[in-house]
Amino acid sequence: MRQHGGVTCAEPVGKVSLDSRESSFGILVEVLGGGGAAVLSGAGLSTESGIPDYRGPSGRARRGQPMTYQAFTGSAAARQRYWARSHLGWRNVTGAAPNAGHRAVAALERHGLLRGIITQNVDGLHQAAGAGAVTELHGSLHRVVCLSCWRRSSRLALDARLRAANPGWSPAAAAVNPDGDAALEETAGFAVVDCQACGGVLKPDVVFFGENVPRDRVSACFGLVASASALVVLGSSLTVMSGFRYVRRAAALGIPVVIVNQGATRGDELAVATLEAPLGATLAAAVRSLGLERAQWLSRGAALAVLGAGGHGPARGHGPARGHRGLAPPVS
Ligand SMILES: NC(=O)c1ccc[n+]([C@@H]2O[C@H](COP(=O)([O-])OP(=O)(O)OC[C@H]3O[C@@H](n4cnc5c(N)ncnc54)[C@H](O)[C@@H]3O)[C@@H](O)[C@H]2O)c1
Ligand SMILES: [Zn+2]
Repeated sequence: MRQHGGVTCAEPVGKVSLDSRESSFGILVEVLGGGGAAVLSGAGLSTESGIPDYRGPSGRARRGQPMTYQAFTGSAAARQRYWARSHLGWRNVTGAAPNAGHRAVAALERHGLLRGIITQNVDGLHQAAGAGAVTELHGSLHRVVCLSCWRRSSRLALDARLRAANPGWSPAAAAVNPDGDAALEETAGFAVVDCQACGGVLKPDVVFFGENVPRDRVSACFGLVASASALVVLGSSLTVMSGFRYVRRAAALGIPVVIVNQGATRGDELAVATLEAPLGATLAAAVRSLGLERAQWLSRGAALAVLGAGGHGPARGHGPARGHRGLAPPVS
């Protein structure tokens, strides 16, 4: 089965035949319903929760370059700038709620259909939706690590300390960047706090650009992929090698890869099916078509999309959206 679909936009809602095995959506449902799939999620799964991605349309609003490990560890001024911005930006991440896509993944897991979830996201929204078997490939913004004693602590506790150390410090932040950083020019007056146990430098427990994913985490995820019946990619451009390598490994092992993503990805050529569709509505429709959850479970938007499609689909098919692609999902 090799099929590339082209469902290009969320609105207006049209009809997509979900039960056709020939459609990319049909393949997605078949792969999920068969059980044992591993999920690899990226920033695109969280855009519907209001957290911008890097490379999708919402990522275009990003200003400046993300912090690198070398810059962060190399200069106190860079750390001050990071924490001042992050102090504001983190509130956007911690205030975000899981969307229909996260809930669908959690539902699949709850029904025993997933082998595991690998996420490149650092926002904790899979877990907030109720998913349990989540490997956070790039760590979590909800934790902080000391670069001297390696003690991990909660970001919430650090937030309270930063507030106390910076009373009245709330310059109006501009756009919030994907890593919880906020675009903010004046950060010189911000007081940074250190590890309470040893006075060492604190860093968010995320893998910065220029930093490697810990080796045991990498190999645990290779093991997960190797034991999965399929790899389902949700909302990742796969530009970052640390996620892409799992797609390559799956393909090399003959494990089918299915990609749901708006926009091309680096893994498209390795996939048995690609579905260019909004994740919340698509995954909610997949869960519903598997008969796993009732319609009330869906978000209002997703429910409307499904109802608008006569109970059959999340979006209107517009034909192949990607250059070389084959048939679009059948539109009824
Ligand atoms: N939420 C987060 O935790 C977060 C946010 C931004 C970046 N990051 C980090 O930055 C890196 C980004 O790489 P990446 O591949 O995960 O993201 P990416 O930004 O490179 O790619 C996201 C993809 O998702 C697509 N997309 C966006 N919204 C979508 C939707 N609603 N439905 C379907 N597709 C949608 C985009 O078009 C894009 O192709 C990761 O390593 C991650 O750690 C994390
Ligand atoms: Zn310490």
